[in-house]
Amino acid sequence: MKILVTGGTGFIGSHTVVELLDQNNDVVIIDNLCNSSESVIKNIEKISGKKVPFFNIDIRDKKALEELCTKNKFDCCIHFAGLKAVGESCQKPLEYYDNNINGTLVLLEVLKKYNCHNFVFSSSATVYGSPKSNPIDETFPKGTCTNPYGWTKSMIEQILIDLHNANPDWNIALLRYFNPIGAHKSGLIGENPNGIPNNLMPYITQVAVGQRKELNVFGNDYDTPDGTGVRDYIHVVDLAKGHVKALKVIKEKQGLKIYNLGTGHGYSVMQVLKTFEKVNNIKIPYKIKPRRPGDIAACYANPQKALKELGWKAQYTLEDMCRDSYNWEIHKKN
Ligand code: NAD
Ligand code: UFG
Repeated sequence: MKILVTGGTGFIGSHTVVELLDQNNDVVIIDNLCNSSESVIKNIEKISGKKVPFFNIDIRDKKALEELCTKNKFDCCIHFAGLKAVGESCQKPLEYYDNNINGTLVLLEVLKKYNCHNFVFSSSATVYGSPKSNPIDETFPKGTCTNPYGWTKSMIEQILIDLHNANPDWNIALLRYFNPIGAHKSGLIGENPNGIPNNLMPYITQVAVGQRKELNVFGNDYDTPDGTGVRDYIHVVDLAKGHVKALKVIKEKQGLKIYNLGTGHGYSVMQVLKTFEKVNNIKIPYKIKPRRPGDIAACYANPQKALKELGWKAQYTLEDMCRDSYNWEIHKKN
């Protein structure tokens, strides 16, 4: 398949490109590099031993997209490009709605014009809001998001559902990611957050290399086994492989399908911290702090639908994720 990957130099996009190339797909990457760097391309090429065409294009740039689609006939688009910082989205809602929603609309219009009706979208477990129970399956209702970023995911899902209803020729996979962490085992690609990390694992790895003093554990009074927040952490390489499997929806022209991509296991902040310390043989200082506004107590997936219908199951353990995240942080530093 010839696949257009938007946001392909980012964290999840870069790992997915590696897996797509491994399965002999033809990939073209576009990214405006607002949260990644072009050097990622050379590292993808090192890992895969293949050349990958890259274009610095903003998904809101209709003219550039049209030019690209005139020169390339894409079978499918996997759409990762978007802004994703929860806190920042509360400060800059218009930028988030413009980049994520307007960007997706421009992209869809161009794909429609050039008869590419196959689309895979990076959604998030955040669309479930505060779930009534765990594990969460795809029949759970979408909930109230606590920030503009979350709403962009929820709204784009609705746009794609409406698009498919209006024209069933569209084949669309909505992939709801749980908490991606880890990195490629080569240490050549991984997550590269700007400034102070919002997310747990990049914060832990920065404490591990001495870049930050200690981890702030946001709340130890939740209704969870040890009081700290529980999440479904998934290795980014497993997540990437999930995208390759999701191409089944496209190849078999299945219409619109929704899948959770998670492991089905919930781990608490303290369990992640202790596992990280154990596998990397390092001490991570931490302090208990008040709960972070907007956080829920627990969130983990029921991933059975993806197993049954796509034949996809996460393989990596929390130990693997902690080891690979640290390995990437060390490589990044050197
Ligand atoms: P990332 O920031 O590493 O990658 C996103 C990429 O998109 C970046 O390279 C950025 O430069 C690019 N980009 C942003 N706006 C663009 C635009 N207008 N035009 C072109 N390129 C643009 O993030 P990621 O963690 O790899 O996430 C990928 C996708 O998955 C995002 O849509 C994100 O919202 C979604 N997602 C991420 C998580 C997570 O925890 N990482 C969880 C659920 C969903
Ligand atoms: N946490 C800390 N200290 C930190 C960072 C996080 O204790 O410095 C805790 C949080 O309170 C939470 C857990 O670690 O209990 C995980 O927090 P993250 O920020 O890593 O992840 P979230 O579950 O809050 O959110 C992430 C992404 C969202 C996405 C969601 C579901 O940031 O964009 O996963 O996929 F929607």
